Amino acid sequence: MPSIKVAILGFGTVGEGVYRILQEKRDEIKKSTGFTVEVEIILVKDKNKKRMPIKGIQITDNFQDILNNPEIDIVFEAIVGEEPAYTYLSDTIEKGCHIITANKKMFAEHGPALMKHAEFRNVQIGYEATVAGGVPIIRTVTNLLSGDQVKRIQGILNGTSNFILTKMRKEGSSFKEALFEAQRKGFAEADPSDDVSGMDAFRKLMILSSLAFGEQPDWDEVPVVGIDHLPSNEITDAAKEDYRYRHVADIWLDEKGEPQGTVGPALIGANHPFFNIDGVDNAVIVETEYLGSLTVVGPGAGMYPTGSAMIADLIHIIRQQEAVLIPN
Ligand code: NDP
Ligand code: HSE
Repeated sequence: MPSIKVAILGFGTVGEGVYRILQEKRDEIKKSTGFTVEVEIILVKDKNKKRMPIKGIQITDNFQDILNNPEIDIVFEAIVGEEPAYTYLSDTIEKGCHIITANKKMFAEHGPALMKHAEFRNVQIGYEATVAGGVPIIRTVTNLLSGDQVKRIQGILNGTSNFILTKMRKEGSSFKEALFEAQRKGFAEADPSDDVSGMDAFRKLMILSSLAFGEQPDWDEVPVVGIDHLPSNEITDAAKEDYRYRHVADIWLDEKGEPQGTVGPALIGANHPFFNIDGVDNAVIVETEYLGSLTVVGPGAGMYPTGSAMIADLIHIIRQQEAVLIPN
């Protein structure tokens, strides 16, 4: 039976989601790709941490165990921060393996370099999970770009912020209570200040800018405001007037054809597509020259939605590479 061996870097909310889907959907994945996908090895920071039981799979805290394993075809990356993730993925590409990442902090900064490296080494990068969790926005924009030109992208790109704003408006929760709940559910970053300061949405916007416009604006030129200083009474008062606060990231091409962006809370009226986007959901409006406007909506964070985006990348890579992947 042909099989593909994968490694998972990180076994927190996202890494565990990938692992669970690979176990639960083993037969379906085999049916749709012709390959059995086997998790060979998992990298964590602390091997002694208590976690779900995993039988027959090597758990390591040493990345060299993965790099030096000749069986690995594809590496999933779901660890935290720019480094060591960037170095691990560069080394993985250099070795000739495909990579699938959820790490937007690393990818916003180093995505363009990794893409060049991957092209040179003739391997693929899946990064659907870096923007808007389970919402297939990378694939949507990629598909649109094949025959159209993107003019503007606006999104609710941080699930934690939207979850907090929703709970404050609907349930009268405090900011602190709502953030705690988002952390408990696995939506928030390891450092949640990235969520509520707007930086997480900003980085996702930069990834979209690279994809849609082939470049990013100067980071210092993009104003970034979070929801962390929004007074709770403003949120409830706006709701009484039939407006809702949403945290919106916006990128567009100016008259010189250069990308410009803004990130911050916005008052949204009842006719806007973002008005009814509640909880952890994200929504992205893509405006193009020929299609006009398209809105994609879905869960923006969490174990299974993010895992599903990474598995979609896996299946895409297997189908693209079927001819060159050598079954073990
Ligand atoms: P968690 O904090 O839940 O898990 C992180 C995992 O990475 C842990 O297993 C940790 O090991 C491991 N890890 C961290 N640093 C290192 C390191 N230096 N070397 C080896 N292993 C390391 O994070 P999430 O699963 O929530 O997020 C993972 C990535 O996915 C992040 O980059 C995040 O931004 C991104 N993401 C998260 C989403 C979500 O909904 N949570 C959605 C989309 C993207 P140990 O278990 O030993 O501590
Ligand atoms: N912390 C992020 C969010 C996870 O809440 O949107 C998904 O990228």
